[in-house]
Amino acid sequence: MLVLALETSCDDTCAAVLDGGEIRSNVISSQAELHERYGGVVPEVASRHHLELINPVLDEALQVADVELRDIDRFAVTRGPGLIGALLIGVSAAKALASAARRPLAGVDHLQGHVASAFLEPEPLEPPFLCLIASGGHTLLAGVEHHDTHAVLGQSLDDAAGEALDKAARMLGLGYPGGPEVELAAQEGDPKSFDLPVAMTRDPGLDFSFSGLKTALAYRLSDMSPDELRDRRPDLAASFQSAVVEQLVAKIERALAAGEWKTVALGGGVAANKLLRERTAEVASKSGVGLKLVPPELCTDNAAMIGSAARFLEPTGYPDYLDWDAVPA
Ligand code: KG4
Ligand code: ZN
Repeated sequence: MLVLALETSCDDTCAAVLDGGEIRSNVISSQAELHERYGGVVPEVASRHHLELINPVLDEALQVADVELRDIDRFAVTRGPGLIGALLIGVSAAKALASAARRPLAGVDHLQGHVASAFLEPEPLEPPFLCLIASGGHTLLAGVEHHDTHAVLGQSLDDAAGEALDKAARMLGLGYPGGPEVELAAQEGDPKSFDLPVAMTRDPGLDFSFSGLKTALAYRLSDMSPDELRDRRPDLAASFQSAVVEQLVAKIERALAAGEWKTVALGGGVAANKLLRERTAEVASKSGVGLKLVPPELCTDNAAMIGSAARFLEPTGYPDYLDWDAVPA
């Protein structure tokens, strides 16, 4: 089965073609440079650029996959959560494509997409497994019992992990998106140099919190001169990254302690982080469970994961999807 998927929930315009679980093409046009000068995604700017980019990105996905629109068996699109204007570009394009081809369309939940990155070839992971999704908009532990859904076992009570990294990067004078910038700066730093709080570790549940950590960094910076900040930037980045990762890993370890899960997977943009990948591997090995890490380019937003999720959903037949809206929340 050939699936053509679109993803436009935030600032990446993405199209992919899958043949079963195999990726034939996975095109991502990032708008990060456009948004960098604002230090974050400007929703109106994002939707305008999706509109300009969606057709070239789609053409490239078909070309790289060496298929034509009439070859596609099923279309798929992210319906939410995300920015309403951005989502609407993808949803409208997918409705137009699917209806012109008289083919079914699957509306995909973005977070289920991140889970479904683990179902892609090679070595697709079979449920059940525990999955940490850590992105710019969400941080949650998912229990995955079946291919088509996940249960939320715990989630952030305030900021998402990626959002905290993005805000820290901004405070440290680093670029956008912040996660990779903090990771790069941290390479030269000592994670033990600043004592930043690892929140929620005494909390008995599986929820997360990152807003206190962000405030702790702001306090720490408030009594530093610009020169001192510049000199200590690697240490600050390393300490902040470590506090984020240690909280994520502590909750994974707690979720695994009950013995219910035999495998742990990571998804979402923060799962591209090398320290998180290494620390999760250590915890998995200590807990005696398997580990599934997809390549970093399948952790950050992409359409292959949306096509992957769509394979396991009941799609909506033509023309019943024509009145679909995006579902931002
Ligand atoms: O999944 P994603 O691409 O988009 C959302 O669904 O939000 O995640 C984006 C988030 C951003 O906050 C970005 O800073 C973070 O993932 N991120 C990283 C890394 N790459 C992206 N965080 C830490 N380390 C990375 N290498
Ligand atoms: Zn995402």
